[in-house]
Amino acid sequence: MIIAEKVSDVKAAVRQWKQAGESVGLVPTMGYLHEGHASLIRRAREENDRVVVSDFVNPTQFAPNEDLEAYPRDFEADCRLCEQLGADLVFHPEPKEMYPEGFHTGVSVDVLSKELCGKSRPIHFGGVCTVVTKLFHIAEADRAYFGQKDAQQLAIVQRMVRDLNYNIEIIGCPIIREEDGLAKSSRNTYLNPEERKAALVLHRSLELGREKMEAGERDAKVLLDAISSEIEKEPLARIDYVQIVDWNELQPVEQLAGKVLCAMAVYIGKVRLIDNFIFEA
Ligand code: PAJ
Repeated sequence: MIIAEKVSDVKAAVRQWKQAGESVGLVPTMGYLHEGHASLIRRAREENDRVVVSDFVNPTQFAPNEDLEAYPRDFEADCRLCEQLGADLVFHPEPKEMYPEGFHTGVSVDVLSKELCGKSRPIHFGGVCTVVTKLFHIAEADRAYFGQKDAQQLAIVQRMVRDLNYNIEIIGCPIIREEDGLAKSSRNTYLNPEERKAALVLHRSLELGREKMEAGERDAKVLLDAISSEIEKEPLARIDYVQIVDWNELQPVEQLAGKVLCAMAVYIGKVRLIDNFIFEA
């Protein structure tokens, strides 16, 4: 497995593969890899001749008050996992390799970036789209793998690819959870044991919402009130948002119809966690 820190080293490896007619699957990550990331790497391994994993805590998607410095890192463990999973290359650049002096270009997707996480993280998705664009080009990827854990990110990247005619297929992959239902996340390591228990309220309240939808409830306000009251029962939890939006434009709906995304961000103590599900009404 190649470990590359320079864009030019990735390009050199990819050039050889492409000349041999091989396909490349890319799994963009910020490292501190867990089973959620592993599921994407496995899928990429199944569907491509070559697999590139990027391991880069992208500074441009963090606002100054967010957890960029504290974001957990363990590059050696990441490399061991990537090697076990059969990745061909891990790209681990320094920020200045990705954003050299004089870097002034950005990609952003309007409308879909405005609701949900976009409200409290207004610069986040611009940073994601820009770094992901760079990674797509550097790796010359034929396919890129994204988790539904970050459903808004998945929808935005899919739209960017469609709107700007990128030659890449975006593959969405299901949310991987702990046995007790908590969605796996690098940020779960911030939780102390008491907060870890409290964090179950995200999945529990979403399941409550899903049950009501399955029983026929279509009024978004009724559903959101039920979900929010369940969260509010947990003293360590503080809601950032709970929303039901249409899966196409990610705009709030009043009555459920077609494919909808029910998503939330909830602070457990100081840790902001997200979770969601998609429902076909
Ligand atoms: P990161 O949070 O490291 O996540 C990398 C990928 O793993 C994302 O596509 C995310 O949705 C997926 N993932 C994380 N937890 C998952 C889980 N429990 N189940 C399934 N998939 C999961 O998302 C980012 O990094 C960054 O924004 C990035 C796209 C790399 C751009 O910097």
